[in-house]
Amino acid sequence: MKSVKKATPTIVVIFGGTGDLTKRKLLPAFYNLYLAGWLSEQFAIIGLGRSEFSDPNYRTHLYEGLTEFSRTGTPVKEKWESFHENITYLKSDINDPAAYQKLAEKLDSLDKAWGLRANRLFYLSVAPQFIEAVTVNLHNARIASDVERDHIIVEKPFGKDLETARSLNKLLTQHFQESQIFRIDHYLGKETVQNILAFRFANALFEPLWNRNYIDYVQISVAEQVGVEDRGGYYEGAGALRDMIQNHLLQLLCMVAMEPPVSFEAEEIRNRKADVLRAIRPLTHEQVTRNAVRGQYGPGWQQGKKVPGYREEEGVNPESNTETYAAVKFYLDNWRWQGVPFYLRTGKRMQEKSSNITVQFRPVPHSTFSSTMSENLLPNRLTINIQPQMDIRLRFTAKRSGLEMDLTPAEMVFDYDNCSTQSPEAYETLLLDALQGDATLFMRSDQVEAAWEVVTPILETWESRPSLEFPNYPAGMWGPENAEALIARDGHTWAVTNYYHG
Ligand code: BG6
Repeated sequence: MKSVKKATPTIVVIFGGTGDLTKRKLLPAFYNLYLAGWLSEQFAIIGLGRSEFSDPNYRTHLYEGLTEFSRTGTPVKEKWESFHENITYLKSDINDPAAYQKLAEKLDSLDKAWGLRANRLFYLSVAPQFIEAVTVNLHNARIASDVERDHIIVEKPFGKDLETARSLNKLLTQHFQESQIFRIDHYLGKETVQNILAFRFANALFEPLWNRNYIDYVQISVAEQVGVEDRGGYYEGAGALRDMIQNHLLQLLCMVAMEPPVSFEAEEIRNRKADVLRAIRPLTHEQVTRNAVRGQYGPGWQQGKKVPGYREEEGVNPESNTETYAAVKFYLDNWRWQGVPFYLRTGKRMQEKSSNITVQFRPVPHSTFSSTMSENLLPNRLTINIQPQMDIRLRFTAKRSGLEMDLTPAEMVFDYDNCSTQSPEAYETLLLDALQGDATLFMRSDQVEAAWEVVTPILETWESRPSLEFPNYPAGMWGPENAEALIARDGHTWAVTNYYHG
């Protein structure tokens, strides 16, 4: 991870240029990078898609997305006009080699106009079944063959299981160098997630305590209020384990559990994260029943509105066995974390949107205070709120003000809202890194495969034994009861609201 510098001349080619991701995330991210002065004067975007669009129509289509989804709101007219000059559209069938010849001509003519060979960033925002066609055609057309200057970004889902992930990695590495391939996990671009590294490794205070001697357990929770929205078709073949745990939550776990890196070089950071994934104790099929819980939401109420159950959503099988909630307990077999449980959970249609990491410290070894003084004595707890609340909170015990020695929980808080600058979107951070060729926050092939290995026994067990209980939690609640039991067996509870309102 480098300190950022302005990007070099680049042409971004987006396969899936008319898709939702381009409109909601990619274009707003590039536009905001442009506004903040990060892009080179020689910067162009070529959107590719099957639909018919003239360049002006395509720009209008993207403008609508910007207005709706950009964190900076409706673009200022002059700014947008100077930015959109660089955006063009190419109607293309991505299976057709001729489309890549046309693309090659376009790339060459831009290079010629600028008088240089620009970097090329190919963004594969396409359904998994098209990745092969794009990869092979890009290779054959020799337009992504400069190992230093050309990169490709691959969106998730990265495979459907270990086997498909391996073949995808094989396919990609047959046609490109690993250093050219950027597998994106947008959670790694979130401001609050990146800050975990600063918090852990730029402070001397916490690292000595960051181990099994002082930490009782860790919870990583990503709760969403939304259902599957209009993605029922995709989600049916995915489920919470593939959609969230295999990637986002395991990446968060890596950030919390990794060893201190020697440097902030991409390979060093990625090696330390890969070590964590390899240290996760594999679950046997029998252990899955005890250590993993699945759920599926039924109809319910959310923010005063009645919402349908998962099986009633569009594109979903009315007898679906797909989980919309997953909770898992993992152990890490290494010196630092032996015996410390890591509880991960994620679900759709939960009571509130909140993602956080809770690091629960052990209680004091001996209570100096009498039981009446210390009835409110709670062990220290560090909460990293990732979103939508963005802060870090350390719970500690203090003396309540007054004549008696009465203890009470208190908090120290670092709140992002108090920082003056608005936080960039995850995609801004990640795209800028990609423009600069910095792969630190992207997934290497071995990391992706190791993460699939971790979830494989759970996937296999759940697929071979359809749930007889689904749906087992109503929309608008905190998931199935079994998930409470999973953690209650160890004497803990899920930290629903991680902050203290004392
Ligand atoms: C995506 C999943 O990767 O992450 C979605 O496919 C999920 O199902 C989304 O809703 C959550 O991302 P965020 O940034 O809104 O927490």
